[in-house]
Amino acid sequence: MTAPAGADALSRYTFPAADCSRIPYGMYRDPDVFELEQERIFRGPIWNYLALEAEIPNPGDYRLIEVGDTPVIVNRARDGSLHALVNRCSHRGAEVQRNLHGNTKVHTCCYHQWSFDLTGKLIGVPFQKGIKGVGGLPADFDKACHNLQRLRVETMNGAIFGTFCEETPPLEEYLGPVFTHQVKRLFHKPVKVLGYQRQRIFGNWKLYTDNLRDPNHGGLLHMFQITFGIARLSGTGGARVDADGKHNLSWAAQGGRTDQDGASDGGYAGTDRGDMNIKLKDPSLLRYYKEFPDNLTLAVTSLFANAALQQIGNTLAVRQLRPRSADEFEIVSTFFGYEDDDEAMTRHRLRKANLAGPAGLVSMEDGEAVELVHRAIVRDMDKHSIVEFGGRGPVTDQENLISDVPMRGFWIYYCKLMGIRAGETA
Ligand SMILES: [Fe+2]
Repeated sequence: MTAPAGADALSRYTFPAADCSRIPYGMYRDPDVFELEQERIFRGPIWNYLALEAEIPNPGDYRLIEVGDTPVIVNRARDGSLHALVNRCSHRGAEVQRNLHGNTKVHTCCYHQWSFDLTGKLIGVPFQKGIKGVGGLPADFDKACHNLQRLRVETMNGAIFGTFCEETPPLEEYLGPVFTHQVKRLFHKPVKVLGYQRQRIFGNWKLYTDNLRDPNHGGLLHMFQITFGIARLSGTGGARVDADGKHNLSWAAQGGRTDQDGASDGGYAGTDRGDMNIKLKDPSLLRYYKEFPDNLTLAVTSLFANAALQQIGNTLAVRQLRPRSADEFEIVSTFFGYEDDDEAMTRHRLRKANLAGPAGLVSMEDGEAVELVHRAIVRDMDKHSIVEFGGRGPVTDQENLISDVPMRGFWIYYCKLMGIRAGETA
């Protein structure tokens, strides 16, 4: 038996602290680490977010996505059941479905016209028996042995998840009570898809999962939200993690500073992030219409490893991470509202959508920050980044925003799946 691709890479780097308060840069740049992640993370015992049921409401509807870097078709079969199929012909390995989305009865590979039904079953092989007994496949060729590879699929309130691994626990157990609640909170009634944004970032995908689990940067990097009071580090907010620390909820609540209160926060002393006196001509961009039973005005739920569910005020979206290489990933955001939204609410959600996405008044800076790090860590792979805001040691819920503790939770779980013994020198 040979070692999996990239297995040797792990011995190149040290995690000097068991609490993952030091991350070696090589974990973000090494192509061998990326190879190993495909097997141990994305095809490992995790649930990957795939799509929303609302995106494929009718029998025959499909969308192309990626799980890790594996191309996958998510579709709804004739009987309404949902399936996730590796988009790779069982014949020569070509992509079978090439349209990003659509409706079809079968998926047919253009190369040799092999056809698969919506459950992935191989149903058509042209000239299987040749012509008049000449050519074709051997008589013992069994189509039933050559279906598309299938992922296990589970759904929760219309959100579809998939896993390659037989050992992955049931979805609700994987999410745990806090994150089951977050999924059900956001998808508490039928949703209506409003549109998509795709963003390609030249950096490692984990620099983005770090970003999602680092509330500390929100009130430092994002000038727009500091200036106009959407989120300041002095506001009411924090983070929640599950028992493993792998998932994270970054939250902010009403009752903290909101809108343009013009206050100057002493914590920003010594920085140039202090001008709180600028006002928007049209402050409707900042308005929040309460629509959840709790007081959260911002709730960004990061699910290990490839998803973020976003509520920024009234802007709702799911972000899916699609790693392409150690040096590149995509974020595909599906913006949505609810089926019973009126016209005014839909317009409000769309206007506020301009906070997120590749050119968003807030999110634009996250993509840039990821690239800034990725460029600068090109050498000195065994130097480390520091993850100590909020303290060292156990990963726990945080009742303030000046913390990057949830980032350590991600890495501790990541190390567990990858087989890295953090805190032990090799
Ligand atoms: Fe950010």
